[in-house]
Amino acid sequence: MAGGFVSQTPGVRNYNYKLTPKVFVTCFIGAFGGLIFGYDLGISGGVTQMEPFLEEFFPYVYKKMKNAHENEYCRFDSQLLTLFTSSLYLAALVSSLFASTITRVFGRKWSMFLGGFTFFIGSAFNGFAQNIAMLLIGRILLGFGVGFANQSVPVYLSEMAPPNLRGAFNNGFQVAIIFGIVVATIINYFTAQLKGNIGWRISLGLACVPAMMIMMGALILPDTPNSLIERGFTEDAKKMLQSIRGTSEVDEEFQDLIDASEESKQVKHPWKNIMLPRYRPQLIMTCFIPFFQQLTGINVITFYAPVLFQTLGFGSKASLLSAMVTGIIELLCTFVSVFTVDRFGRRVLFLQGGIQMLISQIAIGVMIGVKFGTVGTGNIGKTDANLIVALICIYVAGFAWSWGPLGWLVPSEISPLEIRSAAQAINVAVNMFFTFLVAQLFLTMLCHMKFGLFFFFAVFVFIMTIFIYLMLPETKNVPIEEMNRVWKAHWFWGRFIPDEAVGVSAAEMQQKSV
Ligand code: BGC
Repeated sequence: MAGGFVSQTPGVRNYNYKLTPKVFVTCFIGAFGGLIFGYDLGISGGVTQMEPFLEEFFPYVYKKMKNAHENEYCRFDSQLLTLFTSSLYLAALVSSLFASTITRVFGRKWSMFLGGFTFFIGSAFNGFAQNIAMLLIGRILLGFGVGFANQSVPVYLSEMAPPNLRGAFNNGFQVAIIFGIVVATIINYFTAQLKGNIGWRISLGLACVPAMMIMMGALILPDTPNSLIERGFTEDAKKMLQSIRGTSEVDEEFQDLIDASEESKQVKHPWKNIMLPRYRPQLIMTCFIPFFQQLTGINVITFYAPVLFQTLGFGSKASLLSAMVTGIIELLCTFVSVFTVDRFGRRVLFLQGGIQMLISQIAIGVMIGVKFGTVGTGNIGKTDANLIVALICIYVAGFAWSWGPLGWLVPSEISPLEIRSAAQAINVAVNMFFTFLVAQLFLTMLCHMKFGLFFFFAVFVFIMTIFIYLMLPETKNVPIEEMNRVWKAHWFWGRFIPDEAVGVSAAEMQQKSV
């Protein structure tokens, strides 16, 4: 695909690049980083459904599940069981904060490697778990792995990609996440049919495969030009830039990287600096985007689709099968974003996806409400159950081309180099915190809020759609080190960005925009 683009923001430079095989392969391997996160997201829900697993570690939940027919909404409500799922995300939250220093000081690839390594050890603990302590230690190690990978991979992809294809390349991370989820769901489907403890052991133990993939990938990957400059390897950075861009004419972009690095050297404490008014737009976005991404309610489906489908009266096998179908739909629909995000832009996808999710969530809430009422008893007919599954698929599709990939892309591309690692760490930490909260609270919320849970998330989807409409400027095609100009040109955020940060006077900006 030929490079070149017309920027919509005044003063933004126009690099002209082709897509090179090197950048394609590099980003393809880099995106593996999403696999460990996805595998874990996909495996937990199914494993916590397996009777031998529950009998071994959560006998109380097992008994309750066997006996409860009086209230469908509360069948699986157990804080300990949800702690199994959600403990990982707290660990990921903590590690993403450390990862930011490693990513900045040693380069993006070593954070990825460390992520794969701790995930690998965690998978061994889980696969061979003899008691609940081993299970939880394993989960915490997996969480460290996810924190490191999620902190470094989106930044890596955004820095490597040519500006005009950054969206598509960065979305590779989300594709890998969903691919991991789908593979995990398929594995669960088969292992759930095995007798005894071997089923869940295989499911949890196989996490070592994506872990090895990211470890090996990280070893062979080059570091990004931005990171090489940041660490003083200026000559290597230029060569790297020329080789990934497929041309020796990279002077303009290279100069931008050098300028960005010079500026970033003035900043001794990225964590303190990100609090300065001039970084307010990035700070607000890196907090709100992950918060909203989780408040779409997507992980209710990701973690608990099998539980939800059982609640709807599906058998255990049919539930896992339906979860597989929603996963495959999510995977296919993520490609819609890959192919359109650099053409239509981030805002169009955010807004369209938001509206689609909103409508389908309201419809799901109404249908479940009508069938189960507030008491939570009753039977859902086959046609209605299928209709609910179809609505869930429409909701998942909306997420798949909007908040799913963009929730990782936008935070990784909006910050200048001097705060990029810190900003991405905040993004991951906020994401993990709310992933934890949703995972921890969902079953209790379902038990108490019943079908109202879907309306609860719908309200947030409504708010986030308005938020994007008003507050997020379009970032498609804008070179990553030129992003300040986009903020400067925004009706609200412009006031926070000093003129020096964009290298032109306000009058000049005004003139260019006319
Ligand atoms: C989100 C996860 C979610 C996954 C799959 C990711 O972008 O961060 O929380 O589980 O997409 O839906």
